[in-house]
Amino acid sequence: MASTHGAHRILVASNRGPVTYEVREDGSLHARRGGGGLVSGLSAIGPDAGALWVCSALGDGDREAVRRGVHEDGVRMLAIDADTHADAYNGIANSVLWFVHHMLYHTPLEPVFDAEFRRRWEAYRTYNRAFAEALAEEAADGAAVLVQDYHLCLVPGMLRELRPDLRIGHFSHTPWAPEDYFRMLPDDIRAELMAGMLGADRVAFLTWRWATAFMRCAEGAEPGRYSATRPSGTSPTIEHLDGARPPVRETRVGVHGLGADAEFLRERSHRADVGERMAALREEIGAGRRTIVRVDRTELSKNIVRGLLAYRQLLDDHPEWRERVVHVAFAYPSRQDLAVYRDYTAEVQRLADEINSRYGTPDWTPVVLHVKDDFARSLAAYRLADVALVNPIRDGMNLVAKEVPVVSDEGCALVLSREAGAYEELGEDAITVNPYDVTGTARALHEALTMQPGERAERTKRLAAAATALPPAQWFLDQLRELES
Ligand code: F6P
Repeated sequence: MASTHGAHRILVASNRGPVTYEVREDGSLHARRGGGGLVSGLSAIGPDAGALWVCSALGDGDREAVRRGVHEDGVRMLAIDADTHADAYNGIANSVLWFVHHMLYHTPLEPVFDAEFRRRWEAYRTYNRAFAEALAEEAADGAAVLVQDYHLCLVPGMLRELRPDLRIGHFSHTPWAPEDYFRMLPDDIRAELMAGMLGADRVAFLTWRWATAFMRCAEGAEPGRYSATRPSGTSPTIEHLDGARPPVRETRVGVHGLGADAEFLRERSHRADVGERMAALREEIGAGRRTIVRVDRTELSKNIVRGLLAYRQLLDDHPEWRERVVHVAFAYPSRQDLAVYRDYTAEVQRLADEINSRYGTPDWTPVVLHVKDDFARSLAAYRLADVALVNPIRDGMNLVAKEVPVVSDEGCALVLSREAGAYEELGEDAITVNPYDVTGTARALHEALTMQPGERAERTKRLAAAATALPPAQWFLDQLRELES
């Protein structure tokens, strides 16, 4: 009997997809394509592989595209009810799960798990179910499904119920919270999250630090339900005991570090638009000055405010740097539907202005802050940077730390938080900082600015080699191979 299942052999599911649509003034739809590891990965398997990317319709343009039936080959956008999406994405994924995994709750920003939280959690379930149902409908018999990130933690469990024949993987692009922090979530919610993710045949993370934290959280979620085994020489697994041995099932745990795409970055960073932006930046910085560069989404975990405080302290502790250095900070607004992100964006702007009015001179602007997202300008800054400041409080990986050494023209000293996933691969040749330690970061900036050019170039070479060891296409293909094995 012919299968009633879908036709796709490989499926990817994520909140943000590879394309977004904008409605132009004349009513036409304009598609904008994004980049990143998944895009490179899918292009590596080629158009004949029968892959499908299931994602959310995010703005009015995307919703209009769904309404008109406009779509790219290999992409299915889900127009989930806008309020449900907002409650799931803003209300749970970005306000609760993101905060737990990045350890961002501090007084007075405390978690309150009340009736309003429960209402949003219901939306998170509905949103996850929409993905699970679409995947179940589209997947061919025995297909591989790669579910992405904290937005879609419940999808693997829901999908397994609908389609037990599928091979399901879940990949976390964020850190995973330490168990004591994860325990902040209500017990039933922790159990549901774990049952959701462990519906997968394999869960994977960017570093072993996050994978190990996940295993501890799984064991602590429901007494006697899961047990992590870590046999030497093979991948750890989480056994589903459900109160009895032998285990009913197992979920494998793996790690895939994501590296920078050297070929793409080197080609892209030498195009004319990047050259133009380098000239404009040189003009803004002024001749003969050193440059400290940072490029981030304006995101609380990126620690931009403490970075500015450290720069201010550098100018106090080492007045010899005044007029001789410029901090080029690109802070691209993100998640502006949330008040806490809007406040953070305003604080970054306020502090940059304060530093400029306190130390600036008619000829010198100490902080050059840009907030309009411009990839060509980011690449221009990478090429010019003497120092790159990457100081997140916690970060799954942090690709800026990996991209700068690849693109740098003359070598760039990297000041890197020990709490970024990238630290595991780059720590030896970076100047490491505790992201909360502003004085220590100011010291690290001074050390980076005074590093001898020869040493800086040597370190940059080694950093670039480590940063490109796992190109995005390989990152994706390795996950697929592991899932299919
Ligand atoms: O770090 C997790 C992540 O999903 C990244 O993959 C991505 O860069 C970022 O968060 C994007 O967040 P948003 O889709 O909310 O802009």
